[in-house]
Amino acid sequence: MNEKSPMGQPAAELPRAGFSSGFGVLAATLGSAVGLGNIWKFPYLTGANGGAGFLLVYLLATLVIGLPVMMAEILLGREAKANPISTLQALAPKRQPWWLIGVAGMLGAFLILSFYSEVVAWVFAYVFKALRGSILSSDPRVTEAAFNALISDPLQSLLWQWGVLVFIGGILVLGVTKGIEALTKKLMPILFLLLLLLCAFSLSLDKAAEGLAFLFKPDFSKISASVALTAMGLAFFKLSIGMGTMMTYGSYFRDDQNIPVTAFRVMCADLCVSMLAGIAIFPAVFTFGFAPAAGPALVFITIPAVFSQIPMGQGLMVVFFVLTAVAATGAMLSLMEVPVVILHERLGLPRTRATLLTILLLVFLGAGCALSNSALADFKVLGMTLFDLSDFVSSNIILPAGGIFLAVFVGWVWGMDKFRLALSNHGQLHNEKLARAVFFVLRYVSPVLILVVMLKGLNLI
Ligand code: TRP
Repeated sequence: MNEKSPMGQPAAELPRAGFSSGFGVLAATLGSAVGLGNIWKFPYLTGANGGAGFLLVYLLATLVIGLPVMMAEILLGREAKANPISTLQALAPKRQPWWLIGVAGMLGAFLILSFYSEVVAWVFAYVFKALRGSILSSDPRVTEAAFNALISDPLQSLLWQWGVLVFIGGILVLGVTKGIEALTKKLMPILFLLLLLLCAFSLSLDKAAEGLAFLFKPDFSKISASVALTAMGLAFFKLSIGMGTMMTYGSYFRDDQNIPVTAFRVMCADLCVSMLAGIAIFPAVFTFGFAPAAGPALVFITIPAVFSQIPMGQGLMVVFFVLTAVAATGAMLSLMEVPVVILHERLGLPRTRATLLTILLLVFLGAGCALSNSALADFKVLGMTLFDLSDFVSSNIILPAGGIFLAVFVGWVWGMDKFRLALSNHGQLHNEKLARAVFFVLRYVSPVLILVVMLKGLNLI
């Protein structure tokens, strides 16, 4: 495979690198989408929001809102071939401030990274915990105590987070992103197989049926406006849309790449991984007596219980957390790409310096989230710790707001003609009907739907 990854290469040598093969595009985009959102966030939010009803809204939001916005974002990036700020400047009429979406996206990236890096930190720590074997138990008290011991220790929380930031920074500075991406591509199928194996064991547990009913039998009374907003926010988070990541990746897409097909495949594969994580976790939740609404701890306390039932469970659990760390690293690299490329292309900082600056900022910003379960546990804004607040504001406000503005931009400013031309690769693909349908959704449906769900979910109307 002869891929040119854009990341980590000095801009002076390559005018603007791009993905050189169709498969490379799919793999890189998927590498951004699949991450802790699937393995950590999806199960915990589904558990905390009542199960199947939440899942249903999430599926609808992914299809009706996520997919069209994802196509639009990639398309804009590929048309302008620049970072999100320059892309919107280039495509918008003069003096209209649409580039502010790019600025908001960069702030959003920092906000997401400050808590995301802490969750990656937990995953890294769990690789070592798994190696020592102390967490391999089906007793909720044992696995919960192990997790609490980690997150309530300020020093450990900070050190692991710094470790993660140095690790990611190292990958970017050394310019080995290409190697990491190639590695991710090879390892992801193994994570998929391991999840399948986990599902098989989970489904053989005593109360598997209860777990499946929780996940697949909707109780409509549990769908409130705030549940709907959380589900929609998750759809944005999962597909990495609403803040410029997909626009940035789109700028590396080839001109003959079929964007609708790529977006659809990414969405399907991403959904599969989330569903497998859910099926692996919920039967264990009911069998061993965990609380479905355990929150961000859910994966970390239930996964060891499932592995404790499997022959060679300890070794496999180490592999599981290593692969999860790899998936999370791919997603984190894509998040970092937004501020790094903006600092590089807009402020003229060399890539290395842009990366170091981003990492340094995250050391400070991330500390608030790292200490949210220890030193800063009582420091609350709007009733939330800094960790919860970053998570809430990014997924439920910044990403959906970004989605509204992107949809409005495409639907009302950029216009049907340019959209159709771009979506058909300037006439090479015959997808006129699809283009009309997606454009209609972007112009009329997405903005209104997102706005209503947001305002209702935030209790503003
Ligand atoms: N989608 C990734 C995950 O599920 C996280 C992620 C990467 C992201 N890039 C993003 C989320 C951009 C929102 C926006 O783990």
